[in-house]
Amino acid sequence: MEHDAFVSLISRRQSVRSYLDRKVMPDLIEKCLEASRLSPSACNAQPWHFVAADRGRPLKELQRAAFHFGMNSFAAQAPVMVAVFSELPNIASFIGGGVKGIPYHIIDIGIAVEHFCLAAASLGLGTCMIGWFDKQVVKRAVEAPTSSRPVLLITVGYPADDHVRKKTRKSLEEISGWGTYRGSRP
Ligand SMILES: Cc1cc2nc3c(=O)[nH]c(=O)nc-3n(C[C@H](O)[C@H](O)[C@H](O)COP(=O)(O)O)c2cc1C
Repeated sequence: MEHDAFVSLISRRQSVRSYLDRKVMPDLIEKCLEASRLSPSACNAQPWHFVAADRGRPLKELQRAAFHFGMNSFAAQAPVMVAVFSELPNIASFIGGGVKGIPYHIIDIGIAVEHFCLAAASLGLGTCMIGWFDKQVVKRAVEAPTSSRPVLLITVGYPADDHVRKKTRKSLEEISGWGTYRGSRP
């Protein structure tokens, strides 16, 4: 892939909070799930589980789970909701993460979810990751085991507005250094 095409894709991936009333075909969601499936993870543990809902009670209840303490009301418009669960990592990742004090499984899920959202953007779909939601409602919505751990929701649909916003981000100088923590570019 040309770098310009890559930059264009990551620019088009933006949080979409307004959707058209248009059905999303399940095969498109499957393509996004496939992109997540291929994502890397510590010790290849793949510690995730995705549940997609595009109709009926699971969809309504996931939308309700997202609308939490007055936040994320836009989820009610999303034609598809995806619940992402953290699964137990394999023993190598579990021990490694414990010893190093780094939650590898959460990093893994973040990457897999970004793969999902980038794939969605490449298909003309908008997404929004939702970290503020009611966990119990999510578990009940999709009949997940009591011990399951939902960590993110993703809203998916055709964006009501195709405008690509300029990203509000810190500068490269603020977030990176060369050679030393604050070192300037050579
Ligand atoms: C882990 C995580 C949790 C988030 N939770 C929410 C949320 O609960 N509600 C929401 O509207 N946006 C949520 N977002 C979206 C961020 O607000 C958004 O990614 C950020 O402001 C950058 O904007 P952009 O996605 O349009 O580039 C979340 C993003 C991440 C990565």
